[in-house]
Amino acid sequence: MMNGDEGVQNTNDDATACKLSAVKLGYWSDPYLSLMVKSGVKRAPEIHLGYYARVTGFRYLIDKFFDACDTKVQMINLGAGFDTLYWKLIGEGKPVKNFIEVDFSGVTARKCYLIKRHKELLAQVADSEGEVRLSKTDLHGNRYHLVAADFSNKENLKEKLEESEVDYQCPTLVMAECALVYADSAKVDQMLEFLSSSFSSIAFINYEQLNMNDRFGSVMLENLMSRGCQLSGVSACKDSSAQISRFTRAGWGTATCWNMNEVYSLLPQQDIQRVERIEFLDEKELLQQLFHHYCITVARKNSPNFNFDSINFD
Ligand SMILES: C[S@@+](CC[C@H](N)C(=O)[O-])C[C@H]1O[C@@H](n2cnc3c(N)ncnc32)[C@H](O)[C@@H]1O
Repeated sequence: MMNGDEGVQNTNDDATACKLSAVKLGYWSDPYLSLMVKSGVKRAPEIHLGYYARVTGFRYLIDKFFDACDTKVQMINLGAGFDTLYWKLIGEGKPVKNFIEVDFSGVTARKCYLIKRHKELLAQVADSEGEVRLSKTDLHGNRYHLVAADFSNKENLKEKLEESEVDYQCPTLVMAECALVYADSAKVDQMLEFLSSSFSSIAFINYEQLNMNDRFGSVMLENLMSRGCQLSGVSACKDSSAQISRFTRAGWGTATCWNMNEVYSLLPQQDIQRVERIEFLDEKELLQQLFHHYCITVARKNSPNFNFDSINFD
C-alpha cells in the first residue's frame, strides 16, 4: 500500500487547515504554514484549543528533548503531512543534524512541489551549493529529507531512512502526530520493534486517539469512517495501558502516556490563559471530552529522560 488510501491522505489537508485556522487567530505562531495551504473555513474554538494543546504539547517535549541531549540530534517524523517543524527549528538555530519526514507518495509529491515553489522553504533544505536532489515524490537536501514510504512496512521504511543518510548512532527523536492510528497495529508493532532495535539512543513522541471504546469514541470512529477513513490501528488506542504496552512489548525501555486533559494542565498556564481569551467558549465540557480522547505518549530506549515537568538522566 505504497500510496495509502485517499481518505487517510486527506486527513493531512484537514489537519493543516485546522492548524492554519488557529494560527491566523494567534493561538501559536507559524510563519510557514500559510505557504502549505490556502486559508479555508474558520473552525470552532474547541478545535482551535485541541490543536493548540497538540502542537504546543509536542513542541514542549521536543524542546525538553533538545535540552536533555545537549548535542546535535536526528529527528524522524512519521506521517509528517505538511508539518512545518523543520523550518521552525532551523529558524531558531536548534542543533538538528538530520531531519527525515515520511508520508505516502500522494502527500510527499505535493509537499515536494510546495517546497520547490517557495524560496523561504527551499533555502533551508538546500546544501551549500543551493542544490537538492529531487524526484517526483522524494526530496533530499543538506540535512532535510522528505521521502515517500508506508511507515508501517518496516523494510520500506528502513530502505527510505537509509536513502536519507540515517545515522543509527545519533540521538534520535521519532515523532508521529496523529498518524499511527491509520496503520495496521500489528505492522506498527513490527516497525516499533525495528526502531528500538536499530538505534543506539532513541525516543518517540506519539499523539493519537485514546479511550476509543466508549460512546464518544465510537462516534469519533463513525465520523471518520463516513469520510472514507479507516482507523486500522484503533486497538492500540483503547486506553493508556494499550498505548504504553505497545512500546514496551516492542523493546522500548520505558513509556509514559498523558491524556490531553493532563497535558493541558501541565503546559505553561500563562499561555493557556492567553489562548483561552482569544475566543469565547460557552462551557468546557466538550473540550474536556475531546481531551479525554487524545493523548501524548513518550517512549524511550537508552535516551535521556524528558517529560512535562523535569529533565533528569536515568
Ligand atoms: C492526520 S494527518 C497528520 C499530519 C501531520 N502529522 C500533522 O499532525 O499535521 C496523518 C498523516 O499520516 C499519513 N499516514 C498515515 N498512515 C501512513 C503510513 N502507513 N505511511 C505513511 N504515512 C501515513 C497520512 O498520509 C497523513 O498525511
